[in-house]
Amino acid sequence: MLTLENVVAGYGSTTIVQGISLEVSSGSCGVLVGPNGHGKTTLLRAISGLLKVRSGSVTFDGADITKLRAEKIVERGLIHIPQGDLVFPDMTVAENLQLGAFTRTAAKRAKRRLEEVYDIFPRLLEREHQRSRTLSGGERRMLALGRGMMGDAKLMMIDEPSLGLAPVIIDEVYRQIRRLIDSGLTVLLVEENFGRAQELASQMHLIENGSVVKSGAPAEILDDRTVRETYLGVAE
Ligand SMILES: Nc1ncnc2c1ncn2[C@@H]1O[C@H](COP(=O)(O)OP(=O)(O)O)[C@@H](O)[C@H]1O
Ligand SMILES: [Mg+2]
Repeated sequence: MLTLENVVAGYGSTTIVQGISLEVSSGSCGVLVGPNGHGKTTLLRAISGLLKVRSGSVTFDGADITKLRAEKIVERGLIHIPQGDLVFPDMTVAENLQLGAFTRTAAKRAKRRLEEVYDIFPRLLEREHQRSRTLSGGERRMLALGRGMMGDAKLMMIDEPSLGLAPVIIDEVYRQIRRLIDSGLTVLLVEENFGRAQELASQMHLIENGSVVKSGAPAEILDDRTVRETYLGVAE
C-alpha cells in the first residue's frame, strides 16, 4: 500500500532523513521506533507532502505521490495525524470531525464515516456538542483519530498517540487503534515505547540518525542485542 524508496528529506541545508526505504502492506501496521530527534516525524511530514522529498520516491496505493501537494495526498486517503492534539479548541466535537471531511471525496461519504467514528469512539458521540477545549487529553486524542477517519483514510499515519497521556488512557487509545486496524485500515505509527509498539506492529522499523537500521517482526527487533541494551536497558 505504501512504498518508500531511498527517501531523503530535511530542513534548509540540513538533511535529516537519509535515504529511507520501507513498505507498509495493506491492512498491516508498520511502526517506526527509535530515539527522539532522529527523524521519525520528519519522515511522516515528507510522506504526507508537508515537506519536500529531496530524492527517492513515495508510492501509495499504486500511484507515485512523491511530488504531489499535501491536499492531493489527503484526497487519496493518506491521512497524517500529527504529534500533539491539533484540534480546534473552540469548535465542538462534531464541527472538528466535519473538518476532517474537507476533500470532495470525503465530503460525499461524511455521513457514513461519522457513524463509523461514533461507533468506534462512543465517547465522542456523548460529547458531540461540547467544545473541544473541555475534553480530556485522551478524548482529544480520540477526536484527532476520528477526524482522520473522516478524511476517508485508507492509510493513517499516527505520530506518537501515547505522548503525554496517563497509562490507563494510553490503553484505551491503543484499543481503539487496534479496532481501526481490525476494521481494515492500514496504519503507519510512530511510537517511542517499545512495549506499546509491539502490541500493534506487524513490522517494526528502527530509525537512527535518519536511517532504518533494522526492520522486522517485533520479536526479531526485540531479539536484537543492541536494541535490548539501548532501548530496554537490558545488560547482557
Ligand atoms: N521545522 C524544523 N526546522 C529545522 N529542524 C527541524 C525542524 N523540525 C525538526 N527539526 C530537526 O530535525 C531532527 C529530527 O526531528 P524529528 O523528525 O522531529 O525527530 P523525531 O520525530 O524522531 O523525534 C531534529 O534534530 C530536529 O531538531
Ligand atoms: Mg517526532
